[in-house]
This record gives sequence, C-alpha cells and structure tokens, in this order.
Amino acid sequence: MSHRPPVDPTTLTQPLQFAYWVPNVSGGLVVSKIEQRTDWSYDYNKRLARLAEDNGFDYALSQVRYIASYGAAYQHESTAFSLALLLATERLKVIAAIHPGLWHPGVLAKWIATADQISEGRAAINVVSGWFKDEFTKLGEPWLEHGERYRRSEEFIRYVRELWTSDHAELSGDFYRLHDFDLKPKPVITPDRPHPEIFMGGNSTDARGMGGRVADWYFANGNTPEGISEQIRDVSDVATVHGRAVKFGVNGFLIGRDTEREAHDVLREIVDKADREAVEGFGSAVKQAGQSTGDGKGMWQDSEFADLVQYNDGFRTGLIGTPEQIATRMLDYKRRGVSLFLLGFLHYLEDVEYFGREVLPIVRELEAAELERVG
Ligand SMILES: Cc1cc2nc3c(=O)[nH]c(=O)nc-3n(C[C@H](O)[C@H](O)[C@H](O)COP(=O)(O)O)c2cc1C
Repeated sequence: MSHRPPVDPTTLTQPLQFAYWVPNVSGGLVVSKIEQRTDWSYDYNKRLARLAEDNGFDYALSQVRYIASYGAAYQHESTAFSLALLLATERLKVIAAIHPGLWHPGVLAKWIATADQISEGRAAINVVSGWFKDEFTKLGEPWLEHGERYRRSEEFIRYVRELWTSDHAELSGDFYRLHDFDLKPKPVITPDRPHPEIFMGGNSTDARGMGGRVADWYFANGNTPEGISEQIRDVSDVATVHGRAVKFGVNGFLIGRDTEREAHDVLREIVDKADREAVEGFGSAVKQAGQSTGDGKGMWQDSEFADLVQYNDGFRTGLIGTPEQIATRMLDYKRRGVSLFLLGFLHYLEDVEYFGREVLPIVRELEAAELERVG
C-alpha cells in the first residue's frame, strides 16, 4: 500500500493549473522521426502562446539548451525568448530556465526584475541544475559533481530571493559573493506572489531536499501517481521542517484523441519511429549525469528506452486517451497534491486547441463535482 502525503487543502479547492513546454528548441518534444507539426520559430511560438492563454494555460516554460544535442539541432536562448513571449501575450506567465553554473545571481535577479516590470508581474524562473556535461565543458566552465551542482543551485536560489526582497544584500557563500548590492527596481509585488515564482526540476534526493528548503514549486518528471506521491511526501517532509510550503507540478505528454485506440496508436507510432541513436545518446548522457547520486533516485535512472523518447518521461504520466480518461487521471494526481500540469504535445497548435475545447471543460466539471462531494 502506498503511503500518501497529507495534501495542502488549498491544492484541492483551487482549480488545477496548466503550463506547456515552449518549443524553443528544434525537433519538438519527442525524439522521433514521426511527423511533428511543431515549429521552434518565434512566429510559431508567438501564435502558440496567444492560443495557449486563450485555452486555459496559466504558464509557459521555456527550455535552456546552449548547444546542439540529441535531436535538438537549434535552440533559442531561454531568457530572451521568455521575454519575447511575455511581450506577445497578456496573461500568460512565462518561466525562464536558468542554469546557476552559467549565471551570476545578481545579474539574473536584475534581468528578471526588468522582465517582471515590463510584463507587470508575469516573469518566473525554473532553476535547473544541469545534466548536459558537454554544454558546460564547451563553454569552458567546470562540471561539478551532482551534489555540488545542487548545493550551488540552493545558494543561487537563496541569493536571488534575497536580492528580490531586501536592500543592500551582503552575501558571501561557497559559490557567489555580493557586496552591498541593491536591486532597483525590485520585481513587481502581485496579490499572488511576493516576487517572481521560483520553480526547480529534478527527482534525486538532492533535488527533493533543495525543493523542500528553498523552492516555491517542485517540478517532477513524468511519473505514475504512486511515484509522484512519493516525491511529494519527501519534498513536503523537508518543507515542513523548514516551516515552508511547496507546490507541485508534474510533466506529462498529452495525447488526446476521440478514441482511446487512436491516442495509443499515436503513442505507438512515436515510439516506433524513435530516433534510436539520439535517444540512446541522450539516455547515456543523463544516466551518467545522475550516477553520482548513489541511491538511484535521480531523474532518468530507471527510465526505459520508450520513456526516453520523451525527454522528461512524459509518457509515464499516462495522459493518453480520450478527454474523459485524461481528465479523470488528472484528478487522481490532484488528490495526491499536484497543483499544476506541465504539458507537451506532438502538434502544438492543434493539440493545445483540442485540450482547451475537449479536455479542460471535463477537468473543471470533475473538480466542481468533487468540491460538492467533499463540501
Ligand atoms: C520540468 C523540468 C524542466 C527541466 N528543464 C531543463 C532545461 O530546460 N534544461 C536543462 O538542461 N535541464 C532541464 N531539466 C533537468 C534538470 O536540469 C536536471 O538535470 C534534472 O532534473 C536531473 O535532476 P536529478 O538528477 O536531480 O534527478 C529540467 C527538469 C525538469 C523536471
């Protein structure tokens, strides 16, 4: 029997929120030669962002990748692209992915404060500790061992938050130093948040500890409901000790079709047409990057070939089927403490519209029925 963590009651009473992976990297969200009517250009992404905010999406998450790798030949830089999407939209919050090893916290805090001012409080960051060694070595930067990467990320998050919320920061750590540093203007304060929200992604014990201690949001790779419960429990235990609350988002690759069979046929075709060489290259890079975790809980450590065809284990979440099946499954995750789904799609423009038209109304109906039932 799986032990479920206690769930923050606001998670159950608030509507589920939705984010999508911004396709700012070429090749789409699956490493497959299947036709993908998704494009990484700015024009396509501008259209997509506007469509997404009209179809129930609250957030867009841009990816950071600096060099070609494993099916992603071209990449737009995350922070610049995020600002461009903020300027093209009205309500969407855009999360820029950040590598602490490649940014100084003062420079990043300043960058995001400006983006937040321009967008009237819609900027956010996703702190990623890194899996791609070549990216660091080709930039001439040291590649730290797994635990050290997380120690650096934690210091980074603490410092960025401090810079956003207080004056005259005087900070001296193992990785960064700031002397009497004053950020003016600060980011916008909105009723929803005191500063731009800080997300982070990972599965390992290091990631769970850091999430509990310093993150606003913990992003999990795709996983079964039981696997997600385990992560929520671990992160929440740490957060409780530190008198904090962390919210949870889960990655899922959504294939919604009118029949279950059609949806599963699409999944089969994605996997059958996988770019084998790229998937295997990606698989060995990410497994190597997490090896030093020792306890085998790192992201991708137990991923199979088919899981790795979607970079972030998105098939495992099982959002594949009819709108009814997908909505029902989403509610199961919600009951376990998930507040946000981070979604990827095959043909973004078409699939985002299908989500808004067919899936979202059922999610809202089920949520209303559930609220009525529990009073
Ligand atoms: C939702 C999510 C988004 C991520 N985005 C990126 C990204 O844009 N670029 C990147 O290099 N890594 C990204 N990562 C990977 C993390 O940097 C990290 O390597 C990974 O989570 C491994 O963590 P673990 O070893 O703690 O399990 C992301 C992870 C998650 C869960």
